[in-house]
Amino acid sequence: MEDNQISLTDKITSKSARVAIIGMGYVGLPLSVAIAQAGFKVTGIDLDKEKVSKLNDGESYISDIETPVVKELAKAGLLSATTDFSVIKEVDIVSICVPTPLSEMREPDISYVRSAANEVAKYLKCGQLIILESTTYPGTTEEVILPILEESGLTVGKDFYLAFSPERVDPGNKTYGIKNTPKIVGGVTQTCTKVAEQFYGQFIERVVPVSSTRAAEMTKLLENIFRCVNIALVNELMLLCDRMDINIWEVIDAASTKPFGFMPFFPGPGLGGHCIPIDPFYLSWKARQYDFHTEFIELAGKTNESIPYYVVSKVGEALNSHEKSIKGSNILILGIAYKKDIGDTRESPALKIIALLEKLGAQIAYHDPYVAEEIIGTKTYKSVELTPEVVQESDCVLIVTDHSSVDYSLIAENARLIVDTRNKLKNFVGNHIIHI
Ligand SMILES: NC(=O)c1ccc[n+]([C@@H]2O[C@H](COP(=O)([O-])OP(=O)(O)OC[C@H]3O[C@@H](n4cnc5c(N)ncnc54)[C@H](O)[C@@H]3O)[C@@H](O)[C@H]2O)c1
Repeated sequence: MEDNQISLTDKITSKSARVAIIGMGYVGLPLSVAIAQAGFKVTGIDLDKEKVSKLNDGESYISDIETPVVKELAKAGLLSATTDFSVIKEVDIVSICVPTPLSEMREPDISYVRSAANEVAKYLKCGQLIILESTTYPGTTEEVILPILEESGLTVGKDFYLAFSPERVDPGNKTYGIKNTPKIVGGVTQTCTKVAEQFYGQFIERVVPVSSTRAAEMTKLLENIFRCVNIALVNELMLLCDRMDINIWEVIDAASTKPFGFMPFFPGPGLGGHCIPIDPFYLSWKARQYDFHTEFIELAGKTNESIPYYVVSKVGEALNSHEKSIKGSNILILGIAYKKDIGDTRESPALKIIALLEKLGAQIAYHDPYVAEEIIGTKTYKSVELTPEVVQESDCVLIVTDHSSVDYSLIAENARLIVDTRNKLKNFVGNHIIHI
């Protein structure tokens, strides 16, 4: 073993290794907390001054992480934050958790990853382990990050270590968190994999090494593409079932009784979040360099993108049955986050649905216990309180996000008309409830 490896391994096993996390968002903050809870001293680096000052005041801004947890770690000196990248020269391990969105032309925008890597390169020193956690196309770690880091003159696998380890966090999931979700690790060299495996093994129950950074990058994409394609499949069957007057939800429940070879996916108002609608297109883009067209991904994207339009048509049909038009109707949207029990509205289908309904002349209000305010287009919406009066005054209530804390009986009992995209009212009867 090289001296650098021995020294880093010793620091990892004694928990004296210092860690920096670049990007303290939905991924970076929970990761920092898990590492700090294991006894490592963690410094979060973010460009967002507000996040940095909140963390240093011991305050959380992510619903999965409770403020007292951050407070305790900050007080113990295990968690702090800064906007100053020079802290990298004092740490042993750097994890990069910055955004990987799509550009306007729906191509990978890895400018955040590149910019973080440039900052790391400025302070890179012997014996450091650098890990990329952002979801990205196969090849990013070795084709983008490695050349930037090697400009320092240091050699990977000998002077410093570089690995890719995808984040699998599922916001709002109370059963599986960072510690009990197996972690995939692929290093540029075998030593890189070993050191990264050792690090994650300190706070994650099971670490799964793979043969390369590209295999690790592809693993994460397979997981998200699997979801994207299966959601599209069930959404397409929902459209057909609607036309054939078959209840898709009943069919899924029945199929789910098969103890093998079937995994239920559920239809909904459309895809949302920072991952499933975006990540598959990272692979489609890369595939084109290999003269390969990822047709499943394209088709799934097309189907999923059409669903908000279908939801709007269902609202139109529902209002029509009450001799009303979308134009001039008061429509109450229930839930605008992209999934239940979280406040993240990125890529949320609710935003598209609201914009479409507004364009058709509807008056829109929304209630979301996790999102107090949202700007859609040029308009700022504020969450309204969910009272019997508000529900009674609406021409139609559209359930988009099935938050657990909402009183659905209040909706079922007071609404004149309901379009339910989540089968939340399956136990309520009445002609005023329309399931998609
Ligand atoms: N949110 C999820 O559920 C989830 C799950 C798995 C993987 N991922 C992936 O993890 C990555 C991060 O996603 P997220 O949801 O945490 O994003 P986020 O937007 O919540 O957080 C990213 C943070 O990085 C900061 N940032 C941006 N550029 C920076 C830079 N150059 N230097 C320092 N800080 C910078 C931003 O201010 C922000 O606080 C993405 O690649 C995403 O695809 C996300």
